[in-house]
Amino acid sequence: MLDLNNEPIQPELSKLAFGKDFQWGVSTAAYQIEGAHEAEGKGLSIWDVFSGRKGKIKQRHHGNHACDFFNRYPDDLELMQSLAIPNFRFSLSWPRLLPEGTGRINHYGVGYYDRLIDHCLELGITPWLTLYHWDLPHALERKGGWANREIVGWFEEYTALAVKLYGDRVKHWMVLNEPMVFTGAGYFLGVHAPGRRGFGSFIPAVHHATLCQAAGGRVIKDLRPEAEVGTTFSCSYVEPLRQTEKDLQAARRVDALLNRLFLEPALGLGYPLDDLRFMRRIEKYMLPGDEQKLAFDFDFIGVQNYTREIVKYAFWTPFMQAILVPARKRGVPYTLMNWEVYPESMYHILHQFNRYKGIRKLIVTENGAAFPDELKDGQVHDPERLCYLKRYMQQMLRAKLEGVNVQGYFIWSFVDNFEWAEGYNPRFGLVHVDFETQQRTIKSSGYWYRDFLRGSAT
Ligand code: NOJ
Repeated sequence: MLDLNNEPIQPELSKLAFGKDFQWGVSTAAYQIEGAHEAEGKGLSIWDVFSGRKGKIKQRHHGNHACDFFNRYPDDLELMQSLAIPNFRFSLSWPRLLPEGTGRINHYGVGYYDRLIDHCLELGITPWLTLYHWDLPHALERKGGWANREIVGWFEEYTALAVKLYGDRVKHWMVLNEPMVFTGAGYFLGVHAPGRRGFGSFIPAVHHATLCQAAGGRVIKDLRPEAEVGTTFSCSYVEPLRQTEKDLQAARRVDALLNRLFLEPALGLGYPLDDLRFMRRIEKYMLPGDEQKLAFDFDFIGVQNYTREIVKYAFWTPFMQAILVPARKRGVPYTLMNWEVYPESMYHILHQFNRYKGIRKLIVTENGAAFPDELKDGQVHDPERLCYLKRYMQQMLRAKLEGVNVQGYFIWSFVDNFEWAEGYNPRFGLVHVDFETQQRTIKSSGYWYRDFLRGSAT
């Protein structure tokens, strides 16, 4: 059990210490919370299809109903307001707006996000919109999905529609959520939707996602020059198991794959192919002029940090010649996701990203933890999550006080929700959800966040 007591806390955590312009919030994603998978003309997404396939999701869970946020958003937003949370990051479901991915618009879907955004604003909550959080329209997957270069045009059409519809009220946009995860898990390992495997799918998917990342940014800025545009990355501080040349080089390869592959081309630095030789076949998919098209001057980069990775050289593994040493084997604390609890990872990764000249500012668009929560007598006490959050926030403050330009922090997540291939078991929420009754219960970490945001808790 993580325990904060008896540990010196430096620097001292307080909202004030981050400055008055620092942006605080919570994060979610459409497929993980909305439910209403068939409501009012919505098209199928790759996650609707994938979660219907046997053996893909633990306990055969799916997002058909999830938190029923589609119907319950007015109450949920009021709950959010009662917790003094000023910023709400959520994603649009592409197939809810465009059931076939392009062309025909589903006006019911348009109306739903209209109401949701308006309701946020009425309650004084600022919406932060992610365009793509993994629920590709199934109709587009049938045409090759991310592995088909035409996705750049499809994505531009979808982005332009979203900005025309909501850009008058939404000022903060994020183009992609964690491209390394949706290409790696979805197109290489096959453990996420659409369940494809191998380099033949993965490498073109990487290139097209990187093109869309920049193309989406350009579409938003063309239509709304005043918008604040970012994109978000999964990132973990990577360290070698031992200080040997082999482990150090293995760690460098893993860092290039996990932390640099999508970021560096956006900054105009190209793909990190010196450290990722097996990715060189990506050049096969590049057309003249692509190098420039990969770059976009984002207003902010979203950092999504949960853990660190310890890497060991392994000659027998193909391509990477590296393995990640699991937290369990290292005797360190870890969460229900088997992710090591290592707050300094936040500190180091913020510094690492801050060293890039091309990054204007950083926003932590996700951080949080899944622990085995228990609902008892109508309450959920989650001291481990609280401890986790405080310690990561503290490391973020430490980096900020040392000059790192980090200007926001969003907790993953507002409510317990559908954790992809893991189903509903790992609960990340500040608010507990009983998925049978849809009853919400604010956890002690949620009350703490409220008090922290009101300036009365440290
Ligand atoms: C990253 C993803 O963006 C989100 O969808 C996921 O639930 C959390 N991290 C936790 O794994």
